[in-house]
Amino acid sequence: MTQENKTIILGVTGGIAIHKSVDLASQLVKQGHSVHVVMTENATRLVQPTQFQVISRNPVLLDLFDLGSDWKPVHIDLADRSDLLAIVPATANIIGKMANGIADNALSTVAVSVHCPILIAPAMEQHMYENPFVAANVQSLKSHGVEFVEPVSGDLASGKQGMGRLNTVEEILGRINQLLNTSKDLRGKRVIVTAGPTREYLDPVRFISNRSSGKMGYAVAEAARDRGADVLLISGPATTAPPTGVETRYIETTLELQEALLERFDQTDIVVMAAAVADYRPQAFSPNKIKKTTDQLNIPLEQNPDIAQVLGERKKRGQITVGFAAETNDLLENAQRKLVKKNCDLIVANDVLAEGAGFEGDTNIVTLLDQSGHREQLPLLSKREVADRILDRVVDLIQEGD
Ligand code: PMT
Repeated sequence: MTQENKTIILGVTGGIAIHKSVDLASQLVKQGHSVHVVMTENATRLVQPTQFQVISRNPVLLDLFDLGSDWKPVHIDLADRSDLLAIVPATANIIGKMANGIADNALSTVAVSVHCPILIAPAMEQHMYENPFVAANVQSLKSHGVEFVEPVSGDLASGKQGMGRLNTVEEILGRINQLLNTSKDLRGKRVIVTAGPTREYLDPVRFISNRSSGKMGYAVAEAARDRGADVLLISGPATTAPPTGVETRYIETTLELQEALLERFDQTDIVVMAAAVADYRPQAFSPNKIKKTTDQLNIPLEQNPDIAQVLGERKKRGQITVGFAAETNDLLENAQRKLVKKNCDLIVANDVLAEGAGFEGDTNIVTLLDQSGHREQLPLLSKREVADRILDRVVDLIQEGD
């Protein structure tokens, strides 16, 4: 990705994964960014500031009262001209301070002084990350628009295995570049994203559903938001929190999803349908819990409307509709058929049996197919990166149609 050089503050706290931060600083400098490192005292016990200073080619800020060459306090000057604050690795301590507005050292003071996007990559023991106080602080920061690169599972400092390991440098770098993407190429566009599973109830306690976690659709909603769009996320019962800064409406059944989509479709520019929608629903709903009375139970099902097809037939003002095709065989043939039948502008084909693709995970492997016959096969990418690649194509399609 080519972009202008940016001023990035890299906050470094005392986590054992600090070596990844050294690598990150080096890669950011190689990309042409101006990197200014701010270290906590504990971080300096693990890595010498000189190392960051040489790699970043800028002085490292350690103390609030360090004298800069200017009359302005260094942390204020830095905060005023930065395009991004990335804290890598972030301990429970800095997360707690930030969530509570505490400014008692150089980094926490910079964090309350910046007016640029903030990205946090936590690293800590699993039980710390899952601790309810820490989780509440993370949630509070997210609700104020702070971005997180979630930790992953693996070896931890304690020698145990678990969740809490700092994510990879590649993933963090990818998120930084996304946040720095100033093109805002969807500014002024109204985008609807559907995500998660639908539920088709048999009785008050049982339903037919699927494994969709909502992650793919949520990533598209987040990416569209970052590119300046006005986003409505219509979500089935998903397993993760929706992105901040996005209007979210929850539905359960396919018919509810259709109603929510039709309500806003005519005023919308782009619809991305990542929801895993049930093709059938029980013909009858039993108001009471179905009792175990027979050896076999047959439940007649009736077809749900094909919402993507309904929208495809209803396009009046050149809306772009993007469908997903979740396939287990004949991926491209089936996806091509859906592209035509549903009159989508773009279909995102994912082989949901392939390792690293489809339901629940954080990655996907997809091929993008459009009406002109153009096909783009993408490698294994994070769902967020897939989301951006889909929106890149959507932007191309809008430009081609202008
Ligand atoms: O949520 P995750 O765990 O991250 O998993 C991601 C995903 C696998 C759910 C996602 O990437 C995906 O493939 N979503 C589409 C699932 C699906 O319903 O596929 P389909 O091939 O059955 O449907 C094709 C398209 O038509 C989809 O855009 C679907 O939203 C839409 N559809 C389907 C049925 C129906 N009755 N109405 C529809 O509009």
